[in-house]
Amino acid sequence: MTAAATGVAAVPPLGRLWRLPGVYRPQADSALLAAALHREVAPGADVLDIGTGSGALAVFAARLGARVDAVDVSWRALLTTRLNAARAGHRVRVRRADLCRPGTGLGSRTYDVVVSNPPYVPAPNSWPGGHSSARAWDAGHDGRRVVDAVCSRAADVLRPQGVLLMVHSGLCGPERTLDRLAAHGLTPEVRATARVPFGPVLRSRLPWLRAQGLLEPGEETEELVVIRAERR
Ligand SMILES: C[S@@+](CC[C@H](N)C(=O)[O-])C[C@H]1O[C@@H](n2cnc3c(N)ncnc32)[C@H](O)[C@@H]1O
Repeated sequence: MTAAATGVAAVPPLGRLWRLPGVYRPQADSALLAAALHREVAPGADVLDIGTGSGALAVFAARLGARVDAVDVSWRALLTTRLNAARAGHRVRVRRADLCRPGTGLGSRTYDVVVSNPPYVPAPNSWPGGHSSARAWDAGHDGRRVVDAVCSRAADVLRPQGVLLMVHSGLCGPERTLDRLAAHGLTPEVRATARVPFGPVLRSRLPWLRAQGLLEPGEETEELVVIRAERR
Protein backbone atom coordinates (compact mmCIF):
# COMPACT_ATOMS: atom_id res chain seq x y z
CA MET A 1 0.00 0.00 0.00
CA THR A 2 1.58 3.28 -1.04
CA ALA A 3 -0.58 5.84 0.70
CA ALA A 4 -1.89 6.91 4.09
CA ALA A 5 -4.07 4.42 5.92
CA THR A 6 -6.07 4.90 9.10
CA GLY A 7 -7.36 2.22 11.42
CA VAL A 8 -4.90 -0.47 10.30
CA ALA A 9 -1.90 -1.33 12.44
CA ALA A 10 0.09 -3.27 9.89
CA VAL A 11 -0.68 -4.95 6.61
CA PRO A 12 0.21 -8.65 6.80
CA PRO A 13 1.75 -10.30 3.72
CA LEU A 14 -0.64 -12.31 1.57
CA GLY A 15 2.04 -14.70 0.36
CA ARG A 16 2.95 -15.80 -3.14
CA LEU A 17 -0.07 -16.44 -5.30
CA TRP A 18 -0.44 -18.02 -8.69
CA ARG A 19 -3.20 -16.72 -11.00
CA LEU A 20 -4.97 -17.81 -14.17
CA PRO A 21 -5.34 -14.97 -16.72
CA GLY A 22 -8.18 -12.61 -15.86
CA VAL A 23 -8.16 -13.41 -12.14
CA TYR A 24 -7.75 -10.37 -9.89
CA ARG A 25 -4.24 -9.65 -8.63
CA PRO A 26 -4.47 -8.84 -4.90
CA GLN A 27 -3.95 -5.14 -4.34
CA ALA A 28 -4.19 -2.47 -1.66
CA ASP A 29 -7.86 -3.30 -1.07
CA SER A 30 -7.05 -6.98 -0.47
CA ALA A 31 -4.20 -6.04 1.89
CA LEU A 32 -6.38 -3.62 3.86
CA LEU A 33 -9.01 -6.30 4.29
CA ALA A 34 -6.37 -8.84 5.33
CA ALA A 35 -5.28 -6.49 8.12
CA ALA A 36 -8.88 -6.28 9.35
CA LEU A 37 -9.26 -10.07 9.04
CA HIS A 38 -6.11 -10.56 11.08
CA ARG A 39 -7.78 -8.78 14.00
CA GLU A 40 -11.03 -10.69 13.67
CA VAL A 41 -10.23 -14.35 13.00
CA ALA A 42 -9.52 -16.75 15.86
CA PRO A 43 -8.23 -20.28 15.26
CA GLY A 44 -11.14 -22.62 14.53
CA ALA A 45 -13.41 -19.82 13.30
CA ASP A 46 -15.65 -20.50 10.30
CA VAL A 47 -14.97 -17.98 7.53
CA LEU A 48 -16.70 -17.36 4.18
CA ASP A 49 -14.85 -15.40 1.48
CA ILE A 50 -17.27 -13.92 -1.10
CA GLY A 51 -15.62 -13.08 -4.44
CA THR A 52 -12.45 -14.96 -3.60
CA GLY A 53 -10.50 -14.24 -6.82
CA SER A 54 -7.04 -15.77 -6.38
CA GLY A 55 -8.05 -16.98 -2.92
CA ALA A 56 -5.70 -14.45 -1.31
CA LEU A 57 -7.99 -13.75 1.65
CA ALA A 58 -9.29 -17.30 1.90
CA VAL A 59 -5.76 -18.73 2.14
CA PHE A 60 -4.80 -15.95 4.55
CA ALA A 61 -7.72 -16.84 6.83
CA ALA A 62 -6.78 -20.54 6.62
CA ARG A 63 -3.24 -19.58 7.70
CA LEU A 64 -4.80 -17.93 10.75
CA GLY A 65 -6.37 -21.29 11.63
CA ALA A 66 -9.87 -20.74 10.24
CA ARG A 67 -12.04 -23.27 8.41
CA VAL A 68 -12.69 -21.51 5.13
CA ASP A 69 -15.30 -21.65 2.38
CA ALA A 70 -14.78 -19.47 -0.70
CA VAL A 71 -17.24 -18.55 -3.45
CA ASP A 72 -16.87 -16.74 -6.74
CA VAL A 73 -18.85 -16.33 -9.95
CA SER A 74 -15.72 -17.10 -11.98
CA TRP A 75 -14.63 -20.70 -12.59
CA ARG A 76 -11.10 -19.44 -13.26
CA ALA A 77 -11.05 -17.80 -9.84
CA LEU A 78 -12.23 -21.00 -8.17
CA LEU A 79 -9.57 -23.09 -9.88
CA THR A 80 -6.93 -20.49 -8.95
CA THR A 81 -8.07 -20.51 -5.33
CA ARG A 82 -8.01 -24.28 -5.16
CA LEU A 83 -4.43 -24.35 -6.49
CA ASN A 84 -3.22 -21.55 -4.21
CA ALA A 85 -4.71 -23.28 -1.17
CA ALA A 86 -3.03 -26.58 -2.14
CA ARG A 87 0.32 -24.83 -2.72
CA ALA A 88 0.04 -23.20 0.71
CA GLY A 89 -0.86 -26.55 2.31
CA HIS A 90 -4.32 -25.42 3.45
CA ARG A 91 -7.82 -26.65 2.80
CA VAL A 92 -10.27 -24.14 1.35
CA ARG A 93 -13.65 -25.40 0.15
CA VAL A 94 -14.57 -23.62 -3.08
CA ARG A 95 -17.99 -23.27 -4.66
CA ARG A 96 -19.44 -21.28 -7.54
CA ALA A 97 -22.05 -18.70 -6.60
CA ASP A 98 -23.35 -15.62 -8.38
CA LEU A 99 -24.39 -13.29 -5.62
CA CYS A 100 -26.45 -11.17 -7.98
CA ARG A 101 -28.55 -14.01 -9.32
CA PRO A 102 -31.77 -14.43 -7.35
CA GLY A 103 -32.06 -17.95 -6.04
CA THR A 104 -28.31 -18.63 -6.01
CA GLY A 105 -27.87 -19.70 -2.42
CA LEU A 106 -24.76 -19.27 -0.33
CA GLY A 107 -25.64 -22.59 1.28
CA SER A 108 -27.13 -23.44 4.64
CA ARG A 109 -23.91 -23.07 6.67
CA THR A 110 -23.37 -20.08 8.91
CA TYR A 111 -20.09 -18.32 9.68
CA ASP A 112 -18.26 -16.36 12.35
CA VAL A 113 -16.72 -14.07 9.75
CA VAL A 114 -17.77 -13.20 6.20
CA VAL A 115 -15.14 -11.32 4.22
CA SER A 116 -15.63 -9.70 0.83
CA ASN A 117 -13.69 -7.55 -1.60
CA PRO A 118 -16.40 -7.34 -4.26
CA PRO A 119 -16.09 -5.56 -7.61
CA TYR A 120 -16.88 -1.89 -6.90
CA VAL A 121 -15.57 0.27 -9.74
CA PRO A 122 -18.33 2.40 -11.30
CA ALA A 123 -18.58 1.45 -14.97
CA PRO A 124 -20.23 2.88 -18.09
CA ASN A 125 -21.82 -0.52 -18.73
CA SER A 126 -24.49 -1.71 -16.34
CA TRP A 127 -23.49 -5.37 -16.89
CA PRO A 128 -19.82 -6.47 -16.85
CA GLY A 129 -20.27 -9.35 -19.33
CA GLY A 130 -18.68 -12.75 -18.91
CA HIS A 131 -14.95 -11.97 -18.79
CA SER A 132 -13.27 -12.71 -15.46
CA SER A 133 -11.24 -9.48 -15.55
CA ALA A 134 -14.27 -7.21 -16.11
CA ARG A 135 -16.23 -9.12 -13.47
CA ALA A 136 -13.44 -8.50 -10.97
CA TRP A 137 -13.81 -4.72 -11.30
CA ASP A 138 -16.96 -3.50 -12.96
CA ALA A 139 -20.02 -3.02 -10.81
CA GLY A 140 -22.60 -1.01 -12.72
CA HIS A 141 -23.04 2.76 -12.98
CA ASP A 142 -22.83 3.42 -9.25
CA GLY A 143 -20.34 0.65 -8.39
CA ARG A 144 -22.84 -1.03 -6.10
CA ARG A 145 -24.07 -4.02 -8.11
CA VAL A 146 -22.32 -6.64 -5.95
CA VAL A 147 -21.78 -4.44 -2.85
CA ASP A 148 -25.57 -4.20 -2.43
CA ALA A 149 -25.96 -7.96 -2.87
CA VAL A 150 -23.36 -8.57 -0.13
CA CYS A 151 -25.19 -6.11 2.15
CA SER A 152 -28.52 -7.87 1.60
CA ARG A 153 -27.27 -11.42 1.98
CA ALA A 154 -24.54 -11.33 4.65
CA ALA A 155 -26.94 -11.53 7.60
CA ASP A 156 -28.37 -14.82 6.26
CA VAL A 157 -25.01 -16.58 6.61
CA LEU A 158 -23.69 -14.89 9.76
CA ARG A 159 -24.10 -16.36 13.23
CA PRO A 160 -25.29 -14.03 16.00
CA GLN A 161 -22.34 -11.72 16.79
CA GLY A 162 -20.76 -12.85 13.52
CA VAL A 163 -18.90 -10.17 11.60
CA LEU A 164 -18.91 -9.02 7.98
CA LEU A 165 -15.73 -7.31 6.73
CA MET A 166 -16.05 -5.65 3.33
CA VAL A 167 -13.88 -3.19 1.43
CA HIS A 168 -14.96 -0.83 -1.32
CA SER A 169 -14.19 2.54 -2.83
CA GLY A 170 -15.38 5.82 -1.38
CA LEU A 171 -16.70 6.43 -4.91
CA CYS A 172 -19.59 4.04 -4.40
CA GLY A 173 -21.00 5.56 -1.24
CA PRO A 174 -19.95 4.12 2.15
CA GLU A 175 -22.97 5.83 3.79
CA ARG A 176 -25.30 3.81 1.58
CA THR A 177 -23.50 0.64 2.66
CA LEU A 178 -23.82 1.53 6.35
CA ASP A 179 -27.55 2.27 5.93
CA ARG A 180 -28.22 -0.92 3.99
CA LEU A 181 -26.36 -3.13 6.47
CA ALA A 182 -28.21 -1.57 9.39
CA ALA A 183 -31.51 -2.23 7.58
CA HIS A 184 -30.52 -5.91 7.37
CA GLY A 185 -29.95 -6.32 11.10
CA LEU A 186 -26.24 -5.58 11.33
CA THR A 187 -24.39 -2.93 13.34
CA PRO A 188 -21.95 -1.38 10.86
CA GLU A 189 -18.98 0.94 11.28
CA VAL A 190 -16.08 2.16 9.18
CA ARG A 191 -13.13 0.14 10.45
CA ALA A 192 -10.28 1.53 8.29
CA THR A 193 -9.63 3.85 5.37
CA ALA A 194 -6.70 4.36 3.02
CA ARG A 195 -5.94 6.75 0.16
CA VAL A 196 -4.34 5.08 -2.84
CA PRO A 197 -3.35 6.34 -6.29
CA PHE A 198 -5.79 5.55 -9.10
CA GLY A 199 -5.16 2.15 -10.67
CA PRO A 200 -5.23 1.53 -14.42
CA VAL A 201 -8.96 0.76 -14.56
CA LEU A 202 -10.00 4.02 -12.86
CA ARG A 203 -7.47 5.97 -14.93
CA SER A 204 -8.88 4.52 -18.14
CA ARG A 205 -12.34 5.92 -17.36
CA LEU A 206 -11.50 9.27 -15.74
CA PRO A 207 -13.48 11.38 -18.25
CA TRP A 208 -16.58 9.24 -17.70
CA LEU A 209 -16.19 9.32 -13.88
CA ARG A 210 -15.84 13.12 -13.98
CA ALA A 211 -18.85 13.45 -16.27
CA GLN A 212 -20.87 11.44 -13.74
CA GLY A 213 -19.78 13.80 -10.95
CA LEU A 214 -18.04 10.91 -9.16
CA LEU A 215 -14.62 12.60 -9.31
CA GLU A 216 -13.55 16.22 -9.09
CA PRO A 217 -11.14 17.55 -11.73
CA GLY A 218 -7.59 17.18 -10.39
CA GLU A 219 -8.50 14.42 -7.94
CA GLU A 220 -5.76 11.80 -8.16
CA THR A 221 -6.36 9.38 -5.33
CA GLU A 222 -9.13 7.05 -4.36
CA GLU A 223 -10.29 6.37 -0.83
CA LEU A 224 -10.68 2.72 0.14
CA VAL A 225 -13.05 2.02 3.02
CA VAL A 226 -13.18 -1.14 5.14
CA ILE A 227 -16.56 -1.69 6.75
CA ARG A 228 -17.09 -3.96 9.73
CA ALA A 229 -20.65 -5.01 10.54
CA GLU A 230 -21.70 -7.26 13.41
CA ARG A 231 -24.89 -9.28 13.37
CA ARG A 232 -27.18 -8.31 16.23
C1 LIG B 1 -11.94 -7.31 -6.60
S1 LIG B 1 -11.91 -9.05 -6.89
C2 LIG B 1 -11.37 -9.59 -5.26
C3 LIG B 1 -10.56 -10.86 -5.25
C4 LIG B 1 -9.94 -11.24 -3.91
N1 LIG B 1 -10.97 -11.43 -2.88
C5 LIG B 1 -8.92 -10.24 -3.46
O1 LIG B 1 -9.20 -9.46 -2.52
O2 LIG B 1 -7.81 -10.21 -4.00
C6 LIG B 1 -13.66 -9.42 -6.91
C7 LIG B 1 -14.03 -10.88 -7.13
O3 LIG B 1 -15.48 -10.98 -7.07
C8 LIG B 1 -15.94 -11.90 -8.05
N2 LIG B 1 -17.34 -11.58 -8.40
C9 LIG B 1 -17.79 -10.62 -9.25
N3 LIG B 1 -19.11 -10.63 -9.33
C10 LIG B 1 -19.54 -11.64 -8.51
C11 LIG B 1 -20.83 -12.16 -8.20
N4 LIG B 1 -21.94 -11.65 -8.73
N5 LIG B 1 -20.90 -13.21 -7.33
C12 LIG B 1 -19.77 -13.75 -6.80
N6 LIG B 1 -18.52 -13.29 -7.07
C13 LIG B 1 -18.40 -12.25 -7.91
C14 LIG B 1 -14.97 -11.70 -9.22
O4 LIG B 1 -14.97 -12.82 -10.09
C15 LIG B 1 -13.64 -11.45 -8.48
O5 LIG B 1 -12.93 -12.65 -8.32
